[in-house]
Amino acid sequence: MKQVVLTGDRPTGKLHLGHYIGSLKRRLELQKNDSYQPFVMIADMQALTDNAHDPDKIRHSLVEVALDYLSVGLDPAITTIFVQSQIPALSELTMYYMNLVSISRVERNPTVKTEIKQKTFSGGVPAGFVVYPISQAADITAFKAKFVPVGVDQLPMIEQAREIVRSFNTTYQTDCLVEPEAIIPKDDLSGRLPGTDGNAKMSKSLGNGIYLSDDQDTVRRKVMSMYTDPGHIHVNDPGKVEGNTVFQYLDVFGEDKQHITELKEHYQAGGLGDVTVKQYLFEVLDELLSPIRQRRRELAGDLPAVYRVLLEGSGRANAVAEQTLAEVRRAIGVNYFDAG
Ligand code: TRP
Repeated sequence: MKQVVLTGDRPTGKLHLGHYIGSLKRRLELQKNDSYQPFVMIADMQALTDNAHDPDKIRHSLVEVALDYLSVGLDPAITTIFVQSQIPALSELTMYYMNLVSISRVERNPTVKTEIKQKTFSGGVPAGFVVYPISQAADITAFKAKFVPVGVDQLPMIEQAREIVRSFNTTYQTDCLVEPEAIIPKDDLSGRLPGTDGNAKMSKSLGNGIYLSDDQDTVRRKVMSMYTDPGHIHVNDPGKVEGNTVFQYLDVFGEDKQHITELKEHYQAGGLGDVTVKQYLFEVLDELLSPIRQRRRELAGDLPAVYRVLLEGSGRANAVAEQTLAEVRRAIGVNYFDAG
């Protein structure tokens, strides 16, 4: 039996290089491996938990994220790409799971705590936002996902899901739910790609991202303005490689490791200008992004086809989730009208 792997993204904007290296790349690898059955979910309901008053953003981002997925090479014939809100079972599962989690447990989630501190909610923190980890447990368990590739900030969500599975299976004397495991990125930089400004994380709100859909000139401009070593003023000055965003990106995206080592040595010794290194990084990124950009353009020319992919994927996902829901109802005993 194939192992189910599930990942998801909130549709709150286009995807950037941080998403690519932290998650999309892994999904592409998993897709090639026969022993996995991949599901990828666009978490529009989760996005609404902190964007309830801006549904247009979610609606618009949904198709952008779908375009990003398809243009990097997620293949809907292998990967079931679906939309969270179109799977009613997820909401019902969330209701049952909420009874198995205490309010104080929900309030202890470190990622949610940080998010609450960072965001400003006019009118207080929405109840739906505080419990989104429970709904995320529904996302994962509905598909009996064994593996969930995520960034480290998502580990508390997987832990919460595991607890819910154990609690559910014990409480209702069943083994119908599967305990998921997180798969985290291989190294720190891939897990948390810094922004072009050297800030700890690439993010839309910080305006320091390079997007998969950025055109060539935009990518060049962003690379040329990247944070390097502020002490490297003259070409002949020795430069620092540690904490130098351009070299960090080369470590993550560059394939010619030997050339990169040479560049680093030259830079550290002095005599290698930032612009030369940046030009090389631009070429490396352009090689990755050009074909993605090209495919995106083609796909964007036929949006109805993109929506069809989502509709079909949601249909497939729905069938799987309904089956799990039936087992869950049976386990709890709310299956009053089952035959027999
Ligand atoms: N919380 C995830 C994020 O912000 C998105 C998400 C929703 C998700 N449901 C999921 C991720 C289920 C993995 C599995 O990135």
